[in-house]
Amino acid sequence: MMSQKPKIAFFQCQWCLYSQEDQIWVDTQLPKNIHLTKSPCTGRINPLYILNAVQGGADGVMISGCMPEQCHFKTGNMAARRQLEEFNDFLDHIGYEKQRVRFVWLDLQDRGIIQKQLAQFEQDLEALGPATNLVTRVKIAEGELNA
Ligand code: FES
Repeated sequence: MMSQKPKIAFFQCQWCLYSQEDQIWVDTQLPKNIHLTKSPCTGRINPLYILNAVQGGADGVMISGCMPEQCHFKTGNMAARRQLEEFNDFLDHIGYEKQRVRFVWLDLQDRGIIQKQLAQFEQDLEALGPATNLVTRVKIAEGELNA
């Protein structure tokens, strides 16, 4: 259980929220524990941005993008998903559980979905607890490097 609300790094493709009301909500009413970064496409989200958020104390990372056939850059979202899922394996390996990174693909018809997705993610992160398992430094026993 967490005493504070989980910190969420929210990366949003600037085209994925088709509803103006939803985009206004994201731009002006996001809760303080959610940090927004907009990107021209999920394909432009460098894994190092995610790592930076993780190192900065994010308990979870949400990435919202366009549906596969609706990406403005054709396959940017598919490439991003592949790359970021592989990067998620690495994060999991160093102690940042896979459930802490979530993709959301939004459709033209979606209205009010992003609020629900963020609320659900926050709830799931609360159940997981703070991200404290991250390995920041591994002690190497003396002589181990020469073995
Ligand atoms: Fe939205 Fe590529 S333009 S994911």
